[in-house]
Amino acid sequence: MPTTPRDVFYATTPIFYVNADPHIGHAYTTILVDVAARYHRLAGDDTYFLTGTDEHGEKIQKAADAAGTTPQAYVDRVSETFKSTWDKMGISYDAFIRTTESRHQQVVQDILQRVYDQGDIIYGEYGGLYCVKCERYYTEKELEGGLCPQHEIEPEYRSEANYFFRMEKYRPWLKDAIESQPDLIRPEGYRNEVLAMLREPIGDLSISRPRARVPWGIPLPWDSDHVTYVWFDALLNYYSELESKGLVDRYWRHAQHFIAKDIVKPHGVFWPTMLKAAGLPLFKHLNVHGYWLSDERKMSKSLGNVIRPLDLHDRYGNDAFRYYLMRDMTFGLDASFHELGLAERINADLANDLGNLLNRTLGMLGKYRGGVVPAFGPLDADTQALSDRFTALPDEVLDLVEELQFDRALDRVMEGVREANRYVSEKKPWELAKDDAKADELDTVLRACLEALRVASILLEPVMPEKMQALRTQLGVTSDVTLEDARRFDGLQGGSQAQPGEPLFPRVDLDALKESLAGDTEAPAEALEHKDTVTIDDFAKLEFRVAEVVAAEDHPKADRLLVLTLQVGPETRTVVSGIKPHYTADTMVGKKVIVVANLAPAKLRGIESQGMILAAEDADGKLSLAGLDVDLPSGSEVR
Ligand code: MSP
Repeated sequence: MPTTPRDVFYATTPIFYVNADPHIGHAYTTILVDVAARYHRLAGDDTYFLTGTDEHGEKIQKAADAAGTTPQAYVDRVSETFKSTWDKMGISYDAFIRTTESRHQQVVQDILQRVYDQGDIIYGEYGGLYCVKCERYYTEKELEGGLCPQHEIEPEYRSEANYFFRMEKYRPWLKDAIESQPDLIRPEGYRNEVLAMLREPIGDLSISRPRARVPWGIPLPWDSDHVTYVWFDALLNYYSELESKGLVDRYWRHAQHFIAKDIVKPHGVFWPTMLKAAGLPLFKHLNVHGYWLSDERKMSKSLGNVIRPLDLHDRYGNDAFRYYLMRDMTFGLDASFHELGLAERINADLANDLGNLLNRTLGMLGKYRGGVVPAFGPLDADTQALSDRFTALPDEVLDLVEELQFDRALDRVMEGVREANRYVSEKKPWELAKDDAKADELDTVLRACLEALRVASILLEPVMPEKMQALRTQLGVTSDVTLEDARRFDGLQGGSQAQPGEPLFPRVDLDALKESLAGDTEAPAEALEHKDTVTIDDFAKLEFRVAEVVAAEDHPKADRLLVLTLQVGPETRTVVSGIKPHYTADTMVGKKVIVVANLAPAKLRGIESQGMILAAEDADGKLSLAGLDVDLPSGSEVR
């Protein structure tokens, strides 16, 4: 009988930019949503999983130019690479959307028109001094002697007319919405981050680019000289997918977006205000995870520390790779990706705990019962306790999944597996087998272990779909399973035949791996001499950010100190700095500087300094502020 859906689950990944091939960061979010979707399907929920690619904008146009091809040919190729990577990794997406599809473009244009007609999109002129070589605007203050500081050429005045979405108008509404729905953005740290952004004006959002400059985009329906700004286009994919397929009523109000912390602002500020302006209800949750770090830094093509998912998937198997990603990241926090950590996790949890329980159980079953699944004998207290533990697991696991605590959900199942291993060691079936009078007891122990394995395999299947099916095949179960099957401790057919096979998770040779990794990371031949060395972990404790000096004045009680007011993203801070002999208060205003943002506050001659700005000093004591090569917004992290 079909079960009535318990709930509805509509989950999305970000749609990925097609200017680079997928790396494990992209793979993680996609696997995460895949795992969540599989748990919801197991629970009988009506589930819809969307992923796709973000294909418009200047960035993509430039990547296509650099590749010497047309944007369309370029996006077709890279989008296909994403899709085929997900297919090879067994990602169970229900739909893959591309922003260059006409069905998406149609919805974007309809919504733009609606928002424009109601007066929430206005036309505005933006003008300024433009350096053609840098391809960007400069403020007067940024120029040096009237010249571009990079190219030492005189910038030209340029103006660009853009359309602006009246986002600021919706700020009070959004603040209320987030405050009244505490789990709209989770975990809480990211909710607070968005609330902090909303304490200050968010301004209006420029949502168009002149077509003459950026031809690769969706034309505005009322003015084809402009194309849609890529974020306004991209965010709408979550809705256009449903709208274009007539699925809005069924899924929209259940939408859960999964993203990493890099794109909290577009999702936490642009997207809800866009929905409100378009007269659409909000999504249900914005779920934000941290970064996978490689060499302790965020992975990026320019840092050269990218890990390609298919390499690891080929080396260790897809399921073990998925297990590691889900087990070793706590949702919301960063985690470090280490191949050795992956191998250790495989050996500890999968080869030792789970693999061992399977092999010893099937080994004994073959030896003592010819591989035939026995009926339970009378249940003693230990066996009852094991049964109780396992039958409670499905609800515990699903509750943790609901709270996005995937690492804890997996650990709960593994604790059960470890408990079953202890049970075997205590019951000593090899002793029971020597005494015919204990045949029932032996049957009970063997059957209990088989049931524990069966239940664990169902609950781990969303994370390791292939291996857990293979495990059940070894137990002799070939039919599909549901969550109900995991709620019982007597799901096997007594008298059926187990089919032992190859070990599911071969142990990784850690010594050989360590040797090969050591070869990969040899120290550079000529290391710089340092006063003192710090570990990468020590360094990672420091938080550097870009800050804009919005005000500066002389310290009333000290000749050499300036009191600076810095804008660091949404925050304003006071920093007292000893740069005065080299920089006067009025030359500081408007400069972008780098601030150590998590320094403990300290009072300098009576004024509390909330951080420190960086400057270089030569042998004569001459100072030069550390700055940026290319202008970036205040609040940007410096790594
Ligand atoms: N195209 C936009 C998203 C538009 S959604 C309407 C975009 N694309 S992206 O290709 O840059 O993907 C960013 C996302 O990739 C992150 O939010 C995260 O899901 C994933 N990750 C990229 N690097 C990551 C890590 N190092 N660690 C974890 N996830 C990361 O932004």
